[in-house]
Amino acid sequence: MSANKEDKYSILLPTYNERENLPIIVWLLVKHLKCDYEIIIIDDGSPDNTLEVAKQLQGIYGEKKIVLRPREKKLGLGTAYVHGIKHATGNFIIIMDADLSHHPKFIPQFIEKQKGGDYDIVSGTRYIGNGGVFGWDLKRKVISRGANFLTQILLRPGASDLTGSFRLYRKDVLEKMVNACVSKGYVFQMEMIIRARQLGYSIGEVPISFVDRVYGESKLGGNEIIQFAKGLLYLFATT
Ligand code: GDD
Ligand code: MN
Repeated sequence: MSANKEDKYSILLPTYNERENLPIIVWLLVKHLKCDYEIIIIDDGSPDNTLEVAKQLQGIYGEKKIVLRPREKKLGLGTAYVHGIKHATGNFIIIMDADLSHHPKFIPQFIEKQKGGDYDIVSGTRYIGNGGVFGWDLKRKVISRGANFLTQILLRPGASDLTGSFRLYRKDVLEKMVNACVSKGYVFQMEMIIRARQLGYSIGEVPISFVDRVYGESKLGGNEIIQFAKGLLYLFATT
């Protein structure tokens, strides 16, 4: 498929204490993206001064490529995405982690998949084909598999990786889904896929490998897991 000239991709990078990772992920994005794009960094007042690093990157790559949309304090991953979407100028949105767990080399595959099937959403999946998880301990694997399994059984969403957060969306489709969205934290991704099925949007999948972060630590704590369980039950009861 040939690239549509007007297509523009807004990449949302939520950050909380990612000062070591940010320069590398931005460099990799610039290296792998051959399309029209912007990188929107949503930093939530990181104590490690990630925002300073982001400003330096903006100085290097320019204000067109690196857009800064910081918030005062840590308000949660789900609302960080929503905040980023409001400022996106592309007709497609790509959501990914900033800690190098999601490799930008997969993005051209997402774009090709989207064009090939004219999909509304393309979801990276760790659970089919060559996809996988590297570097997680057993506990983390059980949590992820468990969350997926429970959600599959309760909500039957028609996608293999529900909690993954490496995805491409048509912007207008994502906006519609966000309007129906109730979650504020990590459960956002799962809710998006459920809403997509509800609203009849098409979903393509691309196998991805998820590599655990080297720098810094995960922000997924016990509280987020409880929020996930609550969100799942809420969606089960209401959809
Ligand atoms: N702005 C902002 N605000 N960014 C945040 C916040 C927040 O409150 N919490 C986390 N982030 C950023 C991190 O800096 C990172 O870029 C990304 O969101 C993912 O956070 P991690 O803390 O690295 O998540 P994880 O590796 O434990 O979890 C991954 O796997 C989960 C389960 O598959 C992520 O991909 C999750 O989205 C996914 O649900
Ligand atoms: Mn991570």
